[in-house]
Amino acid sequence: MRLLIVLLVVASAASASELDWWKTALIYQIYPRSFKDSNGDGIGDLNGITQKLPYLQQTGVDAVWLSPIYKSPMYDFGYDIADYREIQDEYGTMADFDNLLNEAKSLGIRVVLDFVPNHTSNESAWFERSAARAAPYGDYYVWADGRNATDENGTVYAMPPSNWVSNFRKSAWEYHPGRGQYYLHQFVIGQPDLNYRSDSVQEAMKDVLRFWLDKGVSGFRVDAVNKLYEADPNNYGGVYPDEPLSEIPGLGPDDYEYLIHVYTENLNETYDVVYDWRDLLDEYIATQGEYKIMMTETYADLSLMIKYYGTKTRNGSIPFNFSFLEDITMNSTAWDIKTVIDRWMTYMPSGRVANWVNGNHDKSRVGTRQGVDRIDAMNMLALILPGVAVTYQGEEIGMVDGYVSWNDTVDPWGCNTDDPVAYASVSRDPERTPYQWDGSAHAGFSTAASTWLPVADNYLTLNLAAQIAAQKSHYHFYKDVVANRKSPAIQEGDLDTKALSESLLVVTRLLPGEAGMLGVVNLAAEAQTIDLTSLKILPSDLEVVASGVNCALEKNATLTKSSIPVSAHCALLFRSGIVGGGNAAGAHYLSLPLVLLVVATYSITACFS
Ligand code: GLC
Repeated sequence: MRLLIVLLVVASAASASELDWWKTALIYQIYPRSFKDSNGDGIGDLNGITQKLPYLQQTGVDAVWLSPIYKSPMYDFGYDIADYREIQDEYGTMADFDNLLNEAKSLGIRVVLDFVPNHTSNESAWFERSAARAAPYGDYYVWADGRNATDENGTVYAMPPSNWVSNFRKSAWEYHPGRGQYYLHQFVIGQPDLNYRSDSVQEAMKDVLRFWLDKGVSGFRVDAVNKLYEADPNNYGGVYPDEPLSEIPGLGPDDYEYLIHVYTENLNETYDVVYDWRDLLDEYIATQGEYKIMMTETYADLSLMIKYYGTKTRNGSIPFNFSFLEDITMNSTAWDIKTVIDRWMTYMPSGRVANWVNGNHDKSRVGTRQGVDRIDAMNMLALILPGVAVTYQGEEIGMVDGYVSWNDTVDPWGCNTDDPVAYASVSRDPERTPYQWDGSAHAGFSTAASTWLPVADNYLTLNLAAQIAAQKSHYHFYKDVVANRKSPAIQEGDLDTKALSESLLVVTRLLPGEAGMLGVVNLAAEAQTIDLTSLKILPSDLEVVASGVNCALEKNATLTKSSIPVSAHCALLFRSGIVGGGNAAGAHYLSLPLVLLVVATYSITACFS
């Protein structure tokens, strides 16, 4: 019996890393078009990513999430998929993908793909067959007849089936002359919405997941998941009902926010689909011996978002926590930031995994959104809080939005404004400019004469090579924090957040018997000295393990918690003595399974003596 306990403990220790890797994963989002161009065509590609995997391994990344790499006419830069099982030519071949996956695995990096379930491209074979009403594709998409309206002269004219508006502006309906009906597109015209009320669609999309899981990917980021369902016309007299007006001043019928999206977003049916996908992913745990992560993209109220986590009886996904992107600005105080952190932790159902997202290809970069003075602070917070951290490529070196003129604009959202001034407020091109590797032409991204988006003009000074060479840099700080992320306290410790004033934020992660971790952020333009003696459980002796670019206190400096000098706009990470007191030398090397192992072995020995 006791021997059995020993064996069980060892077995669970061995498999825990494969089963639990996702719970504290550092996931690095790669936007393939802009990461690294290996063949000189001005567009990033799979072989470029493979070349740079060693860099990501050295940085300490656990998994990469690749924005779509599939065959696409690129109206929405890959989020309009013509074939879910083929690689886009300009990104490479399936052999290149297999090679990327193998190389990543050999470096201990997992690969997570983008799953785009709400819509395909209008150039997909499914859509063409659906337009021709060929079985079983006839109802694969959301088709509807137009409505007739009469103008003041009594002339009858055709209108779309409802007043619904695309996320990228203008009507969400497009007439298809071949079929003689309108189809729904919640995004660009080239992105027809799939019909999730069709069982065939549900099965076809599950097969897409299986195709990539069979290849050995470690999970999926799921795109625009809260748009999967629309109101069922059977409940509305056979038509799609108009959405109510939001009455937000200054908006017109072409604007997405002009309507309240009660019939096109967050329908209850959505959650079960996500739970079904979770079950499908779980089937691979036994055969592939690792947990498959699923992270879902939803911009919605927190109370709706957390439903994606699952229910008491069903597991779901990790809903992306976009609060760092949406709720923190350059004017946010330490009180505000603490509130944002605590809010997610409060709403998250107990036992689920938190996550912190500092950027993505749809949102302005941290340095632009919150100011360059806050880059280290935001990177550190995402990395030391419990759960998954998501870094968008370039955030580790503090890239800021590039300037993209109206003439160079390619993002459909920007283009749909038809306005050489207004485009700038919505275009996503600025956060998608190429990665700044070094100070050579095109920032070392490409050898082409020109790149698909211009490289940001600060690349001569802001680039990875310069930051590696510098004594202090955003990159060094990021890497130091990542290295400490593996500590037991950050992996499992209790979280406490404190705003000592409007400008001082303190985060502790404490685990009994282990060194504690303490993050300190000074948002103010003046240096401040802080006294943390009120944090009773935090051991007094502290050592700096990561020092942000604005901090005078250097790495390896030691001090006590009663007096910590923090420079203006500085973020610091400290390691403390062992939590729980005394001088438990070496105690932090003992993880729980080992402690159990020692106890169990000791009791066997005692028995035989
Ligand atoms: C998601 C993607 C975005 C894309 C949209 C439509 O929001 O992140 O880039 O345009 O879905 O697929």
